[in-house]
Amino acid sequence: MQIIEILRQEHSLIRLVLTTMERLRPQRGKFSPEAGRQLESLLEFFWIYVDHCHCGKEENVLFLAMEKAGISRQAGPIGIGLAQHQMNRKILQFLQEVALNWKPDEPQSNLSLAAAMDDYILQLRAHLDREERVLFPLAEDQLGEPQDARLLQACHSLEQNLLSPRRRANLLEKLQRLNPEIHF
Ligand SMILES: [Fe+2]
Repeated sequence: MQIIEILRQEHSLIRLVLTTMERLRPQRGKFSPEAGRQLESLLEFFWIYVDHCHCGKEENVLFLAMEKAGISRQAGPIGIGLAQHQMNRKILQFLQEVALNWKPDEPQSNLSLAAAMDDYILQLRAHLDREERVLFPLAEDQLGEPQDARLLQACHSLEQNLLSPRRRANLLEKLQRLNPEIHF
């Protein structure tokens, strides 16, 4: 199904941005002085593109269609997917707070920022892997091709409502300064 293909492509993009964030992390010692501004762009991507748009498509389009096809929302892969989205948000919120309070000259503050970044990277990678291993195959198995066009349209509208062309271009420009391979 094309909708699953698009969600998988978004996962590849999210992995690329996670790797880009990982590169900001110093092996030891302090983050570079530009790290605060760079992290701000990455956090914008993780909120608007990942949490609002990508997870929004899963929660408000894909999971609803799967529910209508008879898969329980409470238990099983959908319930786990929803719980993980909630957990991802909490960890991202924490990373944002640590980044806002980051003091470039304080070793402990640098360690805290690196640890919060590591937590988010680890959590999100494991979550993407799980969706690809369990949730997407189940969706492809349960949802019929005839629904594909309608679901795609719903995802497209959701993204258009949440991410204006101007904001998208602006965010992309900031991220490409960190890694020119990023495209969306
Ligand atoms: Fe996903």
